[in-house]
Amino acid sequence: MEKEITIRKPSDMHLHLRQGDMLKTTVQDAATWFAQGVVMPNTVPAINTPERLIAYRDEILSLAPDFKPIMSFKLYPGMSADAVKAMASSGTVLGKLYPAGVTTNSEDGVKSWHEIKEALGAMSDLGLVLSIHCEKPDSFCLEREYEYHQEFAAIAKAYPDLRMVFEHISDRRSIDFLAGLPDRVAGTITAHHLLLTLDDVLGANMNPHVFCKPVVKGPKDREALRRAAFSGDKKFFFGSDSAPHLKTKKESGTAAGGIYSSPFAVPLMAQLFEEHGQLDKLENFMSIYGPAFYGIAPAAGCITLVQKKSTIPSVIDGIVPLYAGKTVSWSLKN
Ligand code: DOR
Ligand code: ZN
Repeated sequence: MEKEITIRKPSDMHLHLRQGDMLKTTVQDAATWFAQGVVMPNTVPAINTPERLIAYRDEILSLAPDFKPIMSFKLYPGMSADAVKAMASSGTVLGKLYPAGVTTNSEDGVKSWHEIKEALGAMSDLGLVLSIHCEKPDSFCLEREYEYHQEFAAIAKAYPDLRMVFEHISDRRSIDFLAGLPDRVAGTITAHHLLLTLDDVLGANMNPHVFCKPVVKGPKDREALRRAAFSGDKKFFFGSDSAPHLKTKKESGTAAGGIYSSPFAVPLMAQLFEEHGQLDKLENFMSIYGPAFYGIAPAAGCITLVQKKSTIPSVIDGIVPLYAGKTVSWSLKN
């Protein structure tokens, strides 16, 4: 008999669902595997008003009524406490800080946390979570995350009650950094940072489909991330940062960062945890710790994975997914 594992349906604590034609694909792929997900606000225009947030949420729900979108808003320089209060009353539980220029649609981001002091104070008072893309603009690309630690620590110190998420950890030094901070601070880990190294991006021929921000790093970084994911420490939980870009755009002269991992991230994680004898840690990492940090209920239902090979398509609706064309040793049981 094939090996099976049943876990609470996962929660993706960081994903990009995009807009327009792409939205349908991304929402349905996410809803297959995840009961809920933290929806990132770096759309065009950005999700930074209650009207836009509500319209986006309704659009997502109309495409997948059983998927719970956990809506975020994008912080902008000079954002007032009243503007944050208005966002909170539209049902969001988190605000996202993008340092200016570090990733897709972040040109209008924040240069220093001093530009959003009023907003951060209001978020702390209202109990909202601050989610941060932790990279220092204009630093050397492989040091950007590490060099952001100072800014992160300064915010944590200035707002002693604020819950903060260090998104998509990629650098082994960030694991130690987070371990030294209080429990109101947590970090998400993606499938691609657990599976890939920089060799997959440019060790042989350059592969734009696995280029992302922050860039995947070296084998020692991947090792440290795996140790954190397997540790059972509730501070570290899954957020895919699934971020699709069309194949045609990825293969044009310049490629934006972003990896589409939603469609197979869960079986890929089951495979990784199983290969390392850590399958018993999968459910907490994928389904429990993330919602617990946010104070949200985990999924009521479960999914069962069966150890049976699936082949990952080379293209899904014009997007090249993570591990395109490869097989993964787990599948969803019907
Ligand atoms: O690789 C990334 N792509 N990292 C991000 O932070 C944003 C994302 C996107 O929206 O394309
Ligand atoms: Zn992201």
